[in-house]
Amino acid sequence: MSALIELKSVSRHYEQATGTVRAVDDISLSFFAGDFSVLAGSSGSGKTTLLNLIGGIDRPDPGEVLIDGISTHKKSESELANLRLQKIGFIFQSYNLLPVLTVYENVQFILQIRGIPNLSHADLILPVLKRLGLLELRDRFPSQLSGGQQQRVAIARAIVLKPAIVLADEPTANLDSETADNLLQLMQSLNQDDKVTFLFSSHDPEVIRRARTVIRLRDGKVIEIENR
Ligand SMILES: Nc1ncnc2c1ncn2[C@@H]1O[C@H](COP(=O)(O)OP(=O)(O)OP(=O)(O)O)[C@@H](O)[C@H]1O
Ligand SMILES: [Mg+2]
Repeated sequence: MSALIELKSVSRHYEQATGTVRAVDDISLSFFAGDFSVLAGSSGSGKTTLLNLIGGIDRPDPGEVLIDGISTHKKSESELANLRLQKIGFIFQSYNLLPVLTVYENVQFILQIRGIPNLSHADLILPVLKRLGLLELRDRFPSQLSGGQQQRVAIARAIVLKPAIVLADEPTANLDSETADNLLQLMQSLNQDDKVTFLFSSHDPEVIRRARTVIRLRDGKVIEIENR
């Protein structure tokens, strides 16, 4: 089986007045369809930096990232953005919902960027909203939703076009434990029933407990990979 995402000796170093910060230091990893993995590690260990490299938001220096077998090495910014849009769903820690758009429109926005004909929008969006328990909230604005509801909209938006992999940076960080638990159950069932591939970053023990693969980072390096 070929990897959805492959990292080959990927590094990201920042030059600072105080010296070089090795945020990600020579990491090689592969992620496959169906994975439910977490990047774990303390604050500053490189989780967000690595997710940004995997998602093509940032470029490795040095190293190579392959998305679905395609090297992102020599891609222009716009080619990379296109590839990202096709293959990857993002759930950011702060959700990044657009405040002036309703729940429905926030999800629709992704379809518009991808140039999907309007005619098929409802057929794509409504089943996803239903799956995430958001159908009744479809006309509300983000400011009229709880944190957990906003997080579900962010998930809806990330999965609506059935990306190869969904990346989520600290998906439970802003949620109380009950909401976090419901959300994790939902992601687990999306993984099992709808074959959505997930990669999280988290230091939440509950996220780590539920993951099938735990990749532990320290000082930008992988120190342990645990497969369950
Ligand atoms: N733009 C930047 N310039 C300089 N240093 C940076 C930059 N971005 C991150 N770093 C440094 O790289 C290291 C890794 O940061 P990163 O944000 O990836 O950690 P993290 O594991 O996501 O932490 P947290 O759990 O707090 O979110 C840290 O030492 C951080 O200070
Ligand atoms: Mg982080």
